[in-house]
Amino acid sequence: MCGVFAISSLDINDAGERVVDGLKKLEYRGYDSWGVATSSEMIKEVGKISASNATFIPDTKAIGHSRWATHGGVTQENSHPHRYKKVTLVHNGIFENYLSEKNRLLEKGETFLSETDSEVIAHLIQEQLDLSHDTKSAIQNVAKAITGRFSIVVMIEGLDEIFVARRGSPLIIGRGKDEYVNTTFIASDIPAFLEYTNIVNYIDDEEMAIIKNSDVNFYNLCSGEKIEKRNIEVSWKEEVADKGKYNHFMIKEIFDQKQSLTSAVNHTDEEIAEFISALQSGNGVYMVACGTAHKASIAAEYYFSQIAGRKINVVPASEMPAFERFINKETVLFAVSQSGETADILEILDLGKKRGAKILSITNVESSSIARISDNHLPIRAGKEKAVASTKATTSQMALLLLLAYADDNRLNEGRLLLQDLASNVNDLLNPRYEEYIKSVAETLNDCSNIFIIGRNSLFPMALESAIKIMEVSYIHAQGFAAGEMKHGPIALIEKGTPCIVLGCDSETISNAMELKSRGATIIGVAHVNNVLFDQWLKIPSAGTAISIASVLPIQILSYYLATLRGLDPDMPRNLAKSVTVK
Ligand code: F6R
Repeated sequence: MCGVFAISSLDINDAGERVVDGLKKLEYRGYDSWGVATSSEMIKEVGKISASNATFIPDTKAIGHSRWATHGGVTQENSHPHRYKKVTLVHNGIFENYLSEKNRLLEKGETFLSETDSEVIAHLIQEQLDLSHDTKSAIQNVAKAITGRFSIVVMIEGLDEIFVARRGSPLIIGRGKDEYVNTTFIASDIPAFLEYTNIVNYIDDEEMAIIKNSDVNFYNLCSGEKIEKRNIEVSWKEEVADKGKYNHFMIKEIFDQKQSLTSAVNHTDEEIAEFISALQSGNGVYMVACGTAHKASIAAEYYFSQIAGRKINVVPASEMPAFERFINKETVLFAVSQSGETADILEILDLGKKRGAKILSITNVESSSIARISDNHLPIRAGKEKAVASTKATTSQMALLLLLAYADDNRLNEGRLLLQDLASNVNDLLNPRYEEYIKSVAETLNDCSNIFIIGRNSLFPMALESAIKIMEVSYIHAQGFAAGEMKHGPIALIEKGTPCIVLGCDSETISNAMELKSRGATIIGVAHVNNVLFDQWLKIPSAGTAISIASVLPIQILSYYLATLRGLDPDMPRNLAKSVTVK
């Protein structure tokens, strides 16, 4: 996580202000503090950069950072850039062995201003510079000493160049054109510079670059050998972050699902067939994902089992190392990710690549690291998702995964028809009256401190997903369970008035709901028909095997209102970031 942005130019002399503007577009990567350094100044602040109007002494060069804290609290000292003597740097990632290096430097008498791992890198580079004065080899030597994933952007006092290096965490070079032909942009993500250029060079793992104005040279980080890079034109248009008539991106993106479900499955038969043939080529499929995407993947486990008779092993990417002995050239690793930059997933894909596994992915960002490392990739085309809590990307992932399950069973057209039907029903469902009704349900829950959610079959992962959604934006404790599991322990927590959301109305789930109701629970039912048991009913369309997708929609709206009724900002919940590029 953390957003990194830098500019090196011959003729732009407001580089500092432009770096602030670019960082505002990367705020989804982390928003607890920020900082920008030019050749002569450094500004560091706690809080969101979106509120900043910082100005700088004119300069053609600047580096900046928007932080999601890993090492050390949210303080001005811990925010980036970090400076030690001649070295100023910003860092995204984690320097895993920083403590031993820091202790060594402390013993040498060096002092540190922050608690971060990043500041230690500045000291290490300075130590190397004291030995050789050659910044390129200084950075190479420091990279050898560091374990973990990182990208760094470095300025050295007295030098015009900006030095960058990457191992794991994303870093992209934007090559200026037209009026910006003498300018180069460096960012952890393309939106930072898309207003200036769509010509990019991707810095891959174990690579570095030295940038001076429009002059950019790439090198292998280990050997130092020069590398030639192709200029790539990205087809992105700058998507203007526009909430339209909505108060927050989250509710706008919930309503975007009126269209996004259709785009998610709008791939040609050939594209789907090619992907399915890759899926079928291996001997064992592991689906790796995190958070909400992981819950969408568990739903897919049900789809593939019940529709195509295929067992998919779904593992949270961070837990996959425990199963790494099963990754070999016969394995299909299937990544599901909105951002395409999630570090836990990339780590496993890197390992899979080394072992010759086939890498498949679906992401919302076609230029992302996960998409680029994949042998086969399908975009979910949800459109930019700005709110931290995933809504439209989640249902787009599920829609595409459901379609793939049908395709795996040679029933692609049946899947398409089902999803077309769902898309049109969702289009009808999402209207202001529905939203108002759910808001009124949220009002009844506003004072509660626990919410339980149950579901069976593909609604079980949706119970887990509903809990994530409620917790992350409203800070109310919520927990999802397989409907049949409550009686094996958690039912002890039910007392008079405990809110329980029941996903589905099949007879077994209703029996489980009855067990909760008998102990005093207030039941909020999510189903296509009402039931006498429901104290409140959130109606969804009848959606057949796509019921999991339909069921999550009212919970997204409910979560949104649980947050806003408590005066919280659902777009940027505390402690979170949209793109999680640290392990
Ligand atoms: C929650 C949420 C997160 C992400 C998770 C993975 O609403 O969005 O749980 O799903 O951080 O991110 P991606 O999908 O970008 O790999």
